[in-house]
Amino acid sequence: MTKTVYVLNGPNLNLLGTREPQVYGSQTLADVEQLCTEACARHGFTLVFRQSNHEGALVDWIHEAGRLHAAGQLAGLVLNAAAYTHTSVALLDAVKGTGVPLVELHISNVHAREPFRHHSYISAVARAVVCGLGVAGYGLAIDAIAQW
Ligand code: DQA
Repeated sequence: MTKTVYVLNGPNLNLLGTREPQVYGSQTLADVEQLCTEACARHGFTLVFRQSNHEGALVDWIHEAGRLHAAGQLAGLVLNAAAYTHTSVALLDAVKGTGVPLVELHISNVHAREPFRHHSYISAVARAVVCGLGVAGYGLAIDAIAQW
């Protein structure tokens, strides 16, 4: 049975490519999806790739991944919660409540940026954190999930 990788992206990541390119680079979210498609193909995973600017949508998708996890069909979830990383108890609770195996991902090195980006609600429930590797981090996160 093929396992699925969820890659969920939070607010403003739809603007990748034009948004602060000095911080996030010039690749678009479609480029990131392509990179994830290729990484999943390398490992025989099915990919679910989504983005939302709405916290509740991300919560619902984590629950959806949680149902696959309960059925033994989830390889892992890569979550770039973007700004919600630093604010969202709801996302923390969704990960805790479902037990999904999670890689927290940030394109930029949040620890080298403003102090309010140094705290993450997600890290406490993440198996791993990837940050500062640019969009290449997405592919590396999927490679790491394949080792779990
Ligand atoms: C981000 C870092 C967050 O602090 C920021 O709010 C984002 C993107 C990153 O990928 O580097 O929107 O998660």
